[in-house]
Amino acid sequence: MDTKPAVETFNLTRLYGEMVALNNLSLVVNKGDLFGFIGSNGAGKTTTLRILATFLAPSGGRAEILGHDVVKDADAVRHIIGYMPDFFGVYKDMEVTEYLDFFGACYKIPSTQREKVVNDVLELVGLTEKKGALIGALSRGMQQRLGLARVLIHDPQVLLLDEPASGLDPRARIEVMAILQELQRLGKTIIISSHILSELETLCNRVAIIEKGRLIYTGPVQGVRDQMASGRVVWVRVSSDPEQAMQLLRARPEVTEVLPADGRLKVTLASHDTDHSLVAEVLVKGGARLTELREDELGLEEVFLRVTKGETQ
Ligand SMILES: Nc1ncnc2c1ncn2[C@@H]1O[C@H](COP(=O)(O)OP(=O)(O)OP(=O)(O)O)[C@@H](O)[C@H]1O
Ligand SMILES: [Mg+2]
Repeated sequence: MDTKPAVETFNLTRLYGEMVALNNLSLVVNKGDLFGFIGSNGAGKTTTLRILATFLAPSGGRAEILGHDVVKDADAVRHIIGYMPDFFGVYKDMEVTEYLDFFGACYKIPSTQREKVVNDVLELVGLTEKKGALIGALSRGMQQRLGLARVLIHDPQVLLLDEPASGLDPRARIEVMAILQELQRLGKTIIISSHILSELETLCNRVAIIEKGRLIYTGPVQGVRDQMASGRVVWVRVSSDPEQAMQLLRARPEVTEVLPADGRLKVTLASHDTDHSLVAEVLVKGGARLTELREDELGLEEVFLRVTKGETQ
């Protein structure tokens, strides 16, 4: 059991009627990860998190939290996760401590211990001074931190947080991020969803990018950056001597690499600003016979832009 990842999904699929909201999603989140789950609106983030939190049944595939199946072993899963939904009801007329005490009771924490637990989580999220305040009188950022305190009350090992920083001003957002870093330091595994890659870039060690329910990238954050920093890739095919074509291209400073691949040449340009017509020009002027030229379709740069398009944050 110890070697199990914190979260693992196996071809997880979810339909709403005919609509495929999640499509064969296979993911691994390791223990101790602060894992960014990124996708544009409607990508399937909430659907995935709700399945992991045992609130929604998958249509296909399965998922495990610390080796427990989220369907067959739902009770065990509920004890080891803390799920913060994207929208949660606020009990405006309740006091902060009452609210947390209530959830502590739901998790059957004995009343003798509850006061200490409530104080500890309030301390962790920086709300100690607001103990006696009515929830309705808290700012949005404070309410969000209270939401975090609530999911921590039963000391879960895995946190599933659905856009915990949405709607917060930059300062409140930084405060939430700092709390998450502290929780990671305390050994928690955290999945945090967002539609803004740049927001999670410095926070998370690993990310997954999904779109229309499909996984596009998963791995270290650095991997996304490396991919984005590398130049654009153009695929060409020539009916003349490929060696000669390679020499022509390699002689150009705008070209960083030319590799033969699958009957074609994979040409990497140093900069995204270089137009791919340069490749055609170099080849044709050099006397090569160009029969095909195609730009790489799914570079992560494109993925990044698509995932984050329209975002100003
Ligand atoms: N209860 C539902 N009934 C029908 N379709 C649904 C339901 N919930 C979600 N969907 C659809 O499933 C897809 C994925 O939705 P989901 O809420 O998981 O996306 P998301 O990545 O969380 O998006 P957002 O960034 O807007 O929160 C969307 O096309 C959505 O319209
Ligand atoms: Mg959502």
